[in-house]
Amino acid sequence: MKISLISLLFTCLSCTTTKTALGDAIETADFVLAFGSCNRTDLPNLLWDDILKTKPDVWVWGGDNIYADTDDMQVLSEMYSKQKQVEGYAKLVETIDIIGTWDDHDYGLNDGGVEYMAKDESQQEFLNFMNVSLDSPLRKQEGVYMSKEYVVKDGTIHVIVLDTRYFRTPLTPDTETNMRIKPNDYGVGTVLGEIQWLWLENELSNSEADFNVIVSSIQYLSNEHGFETWGNFPHEVNRLERLIVKSKAKGVIILSGDRHISEFSRTKFKGMNYPLIDFTSSGLTHAYKGFSGEPNPYRVGEVISMESFGVLEFDFSAKKVDFEIIGDNGVVLEKLEQVFE
Ligand SMILES: [Fe+2]
Repeated sequence: MKISLISLLFTCLSCTTTKTALGDAIETADFVLAFGSCNRTDLPNLLWDDILKTKPDVWVWGGDNIYADTDDMQVLSEMYSKQKQVEGYAKLVETIDIIGTWDDHDYGLNDGGVEYMAKDESQQEFLNFMNVSLDSPLRKQEGVYMSKEYVVKDGTIHVIVLDTRYFRTPLTPDTETNMRIKPNDYGVGTVLGEIQWLWLENELSNSEADFNVIVSSIQYLSNEHGFETWGNFPHEVNRLERLIVKSKAKGVIILSGDRHISEFSRTKFKGMNYPLIDFTSSGLTHAYKGFSGEPNPYRVGEVISMESFGVLEFDFSAKKVDFEIIGDNGVVLEKLEQVFE
C-alpha cells in the first residue's frame, strides 16, 4: 500500500490511541487484505466504517454475506440489492477490489451442498452481487471458485477462493451425542468435488506468489465442534495437507468464516518450513454471544465472540504477516504475528 503524506496526516488527526497503533502498522504494510463473514442486512452494519479505516487493498467476503435462506431468486436478489445500498459497504465497493465466496445462507439452503436445486440460479445472483461481468467465464462455470493475483511493488499475493457448497456431498448427522454433525467415514464424500480439486492443485502448484491465501467458507483446522468443518471429510483434510506440502507454494494461509466466532488456529505440517494458519473471522453483524467454549486443538489465543472482521497486513521483505481481529470502533481484539520461512 502506498504511503502518502495526506493519508499519514489523516491517520494522525482522526485516531484514538488504539486506531493510531493500528493505523501505523497498516501504513507500513505492503498489502492489506480485510475479510469477514456472516452479515445480515436486517441488522445494523456497524463495521464498514472501521473496515474502510484499515485502508484495505481488497475486501474478501467469507460467506453468509446475506441471510437469504431461500430458493426464491427475487427475494435473494432484493436482499443483495439491499446490502449494496448499505452506505459504508457502497463506499468500499467504490474504493477497492471486492472478491469472495458464499456459504450456506447466501447459497440459499442451511447446511446445503451439492443437492441444492437452485444453485445455478443462485450462483448468477451471487455473481451479480460481486459485480462480475456478464461475459466472465465465471458465469458459465459450475461453482463460484476463482483466483486473483495482486502484484504490488515488492511482491505478489495470490488469493484462491474456494466454493465449499456447490459440490459438497451430504454430511453425517450425529445421533449419538449432542453434536450436530459427525465426520464421514474416511474416504466418503467431498468438500470441493474433483473438478475444483484439480483446479486447486493447478493454482497452488503453479503459483510463484510470495503468499497464497486460500479462502474457505468453513473452518479447515478446527474440527471438534460438531458443526460444519473440513474435519467432517477427514480424507479431504489430508488431501489438502498433502497438496499444500507438495506444491511448495510459499506463504499459504487459510481464511474461514461461518462460525459466528473469530479465532486463530495453527499447525505444523511435516515437510513445510512454516506453520499453517487458519484465520477464522465470523460475525460481521451478529456473533455467538452465548459462546461458552469448545475444543479446538489448534487454537492460538482466545476466541472472540463479538462482532468483528479480520485484517492481514503483509510485509514482503520480512516475509511476515500481522493478523488482527478487529471490532467496532477499530478496537484490536486479538493479534497474531507470523514469519513465513
Ligand atoms: Fe453464518
